[in-house]
Amino acid sequence: MADKTSLKELCFKIPKAELHIHLEGTIEPEMILKLSKRNNIEIKSKSIEEIKEKYNFKSLNDFLEIFKEGTSVLKTKEDIFDISYSYCKKCKEQNVVYTEITIDPTLAIKKEIPLKDYYEGIIEGMEKGKKDFGINYKLIYCIIRTQTEEEAFNDFKLSLDYKKYFNIIGLASAERNNPPDKFKNLFEYAKKEGFNITIHAGEDGPIDYMKQALKYCNRIDHGIVSYNDIDFLKELSDKKIPLTLCPVSNFKLKAVNDLKNYPLRNFLKNNVLVCINSDDPSYFGSYCADNFCKLVDSIDLNKEEIILLAENSFKCSFLSDKDKEIYLNMIEEFK
Ligand code: ADE
Ligand code: ZN
Repeated sequence: MADKTSLKELCFKIPKAELHIHLEGTIEPEMILKLSKRNNIEIKSKSIEEIKEKYNFKSLNDFLEIFKEGTSVLKTKEDIFDISYSYCKKCKEQNVVYTEITIDPTLAIKKEIPLKDYYEGIIEGMEKGKKDFGINYKLIYCIIRTQTEEEAFNDFKLSLDYKKYFNIIGLASAERNNPPDKFKNLFEYAKKEGFNITIHAGEDGPIDYMKQALKYCNRIDHGIVSYNDIDFLKELSDKKIPLTLCPVSNFKLKAVNDLKNYPLRNFLKNNVLVCINSDDPSYFGSYCADNFCKLVDSIDLNKEEIILLAENSFKCSFLSDKDKEIYLNMIEEFK
C-alpha cells in the first residue's frame, strides 16, 4: 500500500483540470498589499498577518464580506493581468493543466474598471500563462445572485461585446434567498444563445435550489448538501450532471464540520461525476492539488481514487470530447 507521502506526490504530479475557481478568490495577501500601495487604496489591514487574521470565516456570507475587502484594491488592467498570471503560476505548481475560471464582470462594473480593461487584463494574463506554463483555459461569466434579475441581465448585456472570450455562464455569491429560479429568464436566454451553464447550488442553500438549478444548467458547483439524498444522487447520475466539489472551502465555510466526515464517497458510490476544486484558494489556504492532499490526510484518499478524480476533472469540463480524450490519455501513465 502506498504511503501518504507518495500519495501526496501523486496528487501534485498527476495532470488535473480545475473547474471551480473564482479569479478574485486567488488574490494572495501579498498581492492585496502590493496593489493597495500601487493604487493608493487604503485598506484596514496593514500587514500580511493582519490580512490573514481575518481569514477565519463563520459562514459563506461572512466570507463574502471579507472577500469584498480583498477585491477593493483592484483598479486597473495591470492588476487584473497580475492576478490572472499569478493564478497560472499556481496552476503550474499544482499541475493544473486546464482551468475553467469564474470571472466577475459585475465587480468590474461596480468598481468602474472598464469592461474592456477587465477582459483584456484576464485574456492577456491567461495567454501569457498559456505561453509560459502551458495552462489552457475557458472563462465562466458569473452572474451575481444578490442582484435582481434585471440588474444581472443589464450587466450581462454589457458583456455580450466580449462574448468571444467566454462560452460558459455561472451563478454565485450569497446563496440563501437567491434561488436559481430568480434568474429564469436570463438562464433561458443564455441557453438559447448556446452558452453552457453551471450554477452554485447546495453550498449554503437547500437541496431544492439544486433541483431548480437542474432546469437550467449542465453542471452544479458544490452540491454538497445532497450527499445523503439517494434518490437525488441517482437523478444526478442518470442525467450525467457533474458536481464541482470544493472540500477545503466547504470546511472553512462550515458546510461540513470536519474534513474527516467529507462525504466524497457517498457521491462516488452513487456514480455521481464529481471533481475536486479549490474555489477561493488564497482565502482557504489550499489550491487544487492541496485539496487532494487534504483528502489523503482526512479520509485516506487512495491511489485509485486520486486517479479517478483526476480523470473526472476533465470529464466534468466543458471541453470537447476530442480534447477530453487528449487529457485523459495524459493520465494513463499514472495507472
Ligand atoms: N464567490 C466567491 N466564492 C464563492 C463561494 N464559495 N460561493 C459563492 N459565491 C462565491
Ligand atoms: Zn465558488
